Amino acid sequence: MKHPSIPLKIRAFEDADESAAIELWQRCNLTRPWNDPKKDIQRKLRVQPHLFLVGTIGQELIATVMAGYEGHRGWINYLAVAPEYQRQGIGQLMMAEAERLLRDAGCPKINLLVRSTNPDAIEFYEALGYTVDEVISLGKRLESDN
Ligand SMILES: CC(C)(COP(=O)(O)OP(=O)(O)OC[C@H]1O[C@@H](n2cnc3c(N)ncnc32)[C@H](O)[C@@H]1OP(=O)(O)O)[C@@H](O)C(=O)NCCC(=O)NCCS
Repeated sequence: MKHPSIPLKIRAFEDADESAAIELWQRCNLTRPWNDPKKDIQRKLRVQPHLFLVGTIGQELIATVMAGYEGHRGWINYLAVAPEYQRQGIGQLMMAEAERLLRDAGCPKINLLVRSTNPDAIEFYEALGYTVDEVISLGKRLESDN
């Protein structure tokens, strides 16, 4: 795997990043009608905001990852790299920083959900050492975003 020679900076999300992050998620096909990305960001800013990371090159926001730890497992959401910057090792670097912060918090294992329609993301995570767990994911909505 490559490491980018471009000067990627990884830092915590700031309020001014909101529109660029949402635009990136739209470009990366991560938004869904039942999830309001603005509300997702506001909720994350109330819980472990330091685990919501952005990757920038100069002034441009080109990557995000939203991590969390609830005392048992770490979770990863909204991992995105701008299409024109993909396959340069940036996703790997974003995950390495999220993993470092989760490990520092005492997290023993990371779980994450990938849509079954996204085989590229599954290949990406497998390249980073993630394996498919034999589980069925269940969910229950507690609040409608619409
Ligand atoms: C998934 C994603 C974050 C990967 O970011 P990236 O910066 O392109 O990934 P990297 O360059 O760090 O890739 C590391 C390794 O993962 C694997 N990989 C990455 N993208 C892959 C793809 N599209 N198909 C197959 N393998 C892939 C490769 O082994 C790659 O190493 P290589 O380029 O030396 O072969 C990016 O493709 C993306 O933003 N996709 C759209 C959003 C998305 O699906 N997010 C995940 C939601 S669960």
